[in-house]
Amino acid sequence: MDINLIQTQIESDLSAVTTAVALEEVRVKYLGRKGLLAELTGAIPGLPVEQRGAFGKEVNALKNKLLNLIAEKEKVLKNSGSVLKKENLDLGMPGIAQELGSIHPITQIIDEICAIFTRMGFSIVRGPEIETEYNNFTGLNIPLEHPSRDAFDTFYLKNYSKFLLRSHTSPVQVRAMKAHKPPLAIVVPGRVYRPDAVDASHLFMFHQIEGFLVDENIKFSDLKGILELFAKSVFGQEIKMRFRPHFFPFTEPSAEVDISCIICKGKGCSVCGRKGWLEILGAGMIHPNVFKQVGYNPEKYTGFAFGMGVERIAMLKYGINDIRLFFENDLRFLKQF
Ligand code: PHE
Repeated sequence: MDINLIQTQIESDLSAVTTAVALEEVRVKYLGRKGLLAELTGAIPGLPVEQRGAFGKEVNALKNKLLNLIAEKEKVLKNSGSVLKKENLDLGMPGIAQELGSIHPITQIIDEICAIFTRMGFSIVRGPEIETEYNNFTGLNIPLEHPSRDAFDTFYLKNYSKFLLRSHTSPVQVRAMKAHKPPLAIVVPGRVYRPDAVDASHLFMFHQIEGFLVDENIKFSDLKGILELFAKSVFGQEIKMRFRPHFFPFTEPSAEVDISCIICKGKGCSVCGRKGWLEILGAGMIHPNVFKQVGYNPEKYTGFAFGMGVERIAMLKYGINDIRLFFENDLRFLKQF
């Protein structure tokens, strides 16, 4: 057997090796008990005496060379070769299932309410959370020194005193009316901000849905009919509604709207404070001064507007007693919706 030939064979075998398993196969082929090296060693006694010494040395040298080459290959494989082995990746292992998220209860209620209004022909419009002082107040007939600014007076932007975080969604009335001529039927969902101290029913940020409709001959009875349809869709056909006189600078007349308590059905309980009624929104006929601000002719057009707090509606509908629960990201709470 030609030792040189064997060495060439070994080198080509090793160069084809890319995995630890293949390397082991090569090792066994040459160094195993029945391997080629063992065969060569076994052939020594059969040689003429004068050749045995030299041949034995050659076989030994080959064996050492082979051991070195295998050790080297092992190092190469460890450092870069077998990625699978390095990452301990088992392609047959079952995967880790991804947990599915769900739609936040506030978003669900917003979608539900907007769907009720879009079915009646309203369009959904959004406005910026950073508003101008004009759109949030002046355009809505809330002059600079008006006391009703206090309840709303809000977070002004540092260095940009004409900009603030909107305190209600009503400024989108001004934006939409300035951009489009009547007829208009729009709902506006979105976040609003107020400097309220945080407790079970107040947060400095919450969501509102504004609605307004402007055309010729729009009457208070149109407002009542649409709000009743809305309230019955959300809370059930059996609920009753009432309109209490109220004041908003941007509507005249104005009302706060109550529904009969969904817990006690109007008899009086702790949820409705023994009154039998729950306030759900503010509404009214759009003030002529607002129409003047946006360039509508108040002699020609009339319209109504309403604004509701989404968290409040969600709390009533689902019997939630603390507004903070919505924004704590506690999965035990969120998974219930
Ligand atoms: N913007 C009022 C608020 O935030 C609600 C409202 C909207 C009242 C439209 C009347 C008409 O309290």
